[in-house]
Amino acid sequence: MGLDRLPLARSGARARRAPVSTPVVRTSEALGTDELQELCAGYPFGDYRRYRSIEPQREHAHFVERVRQLCARDDVRRLVACDPDGAPAGLLLLQHLDDDSRLFGLRMAGIPIALARADHPNPRAVQRALLAGLSSLVERERVLHVSFRVDTADLAAYQEFTDAGFRLVETLVTLTHDTERRGRGVVLPAEHGFEGVLRAAEPRDLPAIEELSARAFTLNRYHLDEHLPRRDAGRLMARWARNYLELSLAPERDAQVWVAETSAGRLAGFLGHRLERELERHTGVLVSGRALLAVADPRSGVGRMLSQHHVWTSSGAYKDADTQLNNYGMIKVAFDLDMELVRTKYTFHRWYGG
Ligand SMILES: CC(C)(COP(=O)(O)OP(=O)(O)OC[C@H]1O[C@@H](n2cnc3c(N)ncnc32)[C@H](O)[C@@H]1OP(=O)(O)O)[C@@H](O)C(=O)NCCC(=O)NCCS
Repeated sequence: MGLDRLPLARSGARARRAPVSTPVVRTSEALGTDELQELCAGYPFGDYRRYRSIEPQREHAHFVERVRQLCARDDVRRLVACDPDGAPAGLLLLQHLDDDSRLFGLRMAGIPIALARADHPNPRAVQRALLAGLSSLVERERVLHVSFRVDTADLAAYQEFTDAGFRLVETLVTLTHDTERRGRGVVLPAEHGFEGVLRAAEPRDLPAIEELSARAFTLNRYHLDEHLPRRDAGRLMARWARNYLELSLAPERDAQVWVAETSAGRLAGFLGHRLERELERHTGVLVSGRALLAVADPRSGVGRMLSQHHVWTSSGAYKDADTQLNNYGMIKVAFDLDMELVRTKYTFHRWYGG
């Protein structure tokens, strides 16, 4: 059976035969609700699809809302791929990263979304068309550095982005602690051989947290992109930790930061994480994600102690830890705590104009 004769299993009203021609890409000023719904329908790579307590329809609603909000932003440009019959086939969003651009002194952007319609018969052709459109868009916007993170199951995107010169800089695994399943408890530092205290971070901890972040976080996409200065990559990690501390001290408390302090008053380590409030609004389930954990003296048991404290004490039904596939220390800690693997992603960087 030829591609044009493959039947399409579509739930919507616009079921049609598979087009064989290459999709056409246009930049879009605004995306209609129907168009957006059609593009996102059945999206199979949702970030929270493997969390036991999160209902799939609500997870999907959260995803669609995220895409809608991104589309509405001033710093986001939209590329829509359409089939020859005019039906939307794919969407790519390019977002200017102003803070990163300032910090590294070059124009940087990220691709928060690059999707082919879930029932499209040729997702690779869709991604290819979007990437061709991206080249001109990047040139118009004078962007030099583009990053893209994609679920490892999205092979069409993976293959097309690598063919288009995007280079792998990171493979992230997310391990989560399911509170309902694994329970809570209280960490006693002495039981971990630690002479000191575990407590919530305070403003006075900021200099030590920034210094440790700039020094300890070296296994990430900024440090692993050999063309980005390591010093600036360190400053970026320090800024990230500072954001968490500021959020944790603000009235909304959208983040929490824990510190391990020695009896001599020295910072032995910290763990900060974000509370995913938007996800909670849609699904009723709170996830604490995007954790940052660093210790002053590796292999002294402090990382495990802080992680245990986090999974037992932090807010949320799930506590996530994202780490590089080759961060054996962090993965060992997560396995020790019976955390479950729920997500794997690749991150790519592409330099333009050089
Ligand atoms: C990852 C990190 C937080 C682990 O903390 P830690 O205090 O060194 O870990 P612990 O001493 O609690 O070790 C827990 C277990 O992991 C093992 N381990 C720690 N680092 C390891 C490494 N690099 N390779 C292999 N195993 C390692 C320990 O031997 C221990 O195993 P054991 O119980 O069988 O002896 C720490 O190494 C660190 O700060 N790294 C830099 C920042 C980072 O990568 N953070 C994680 C991503 S946000």
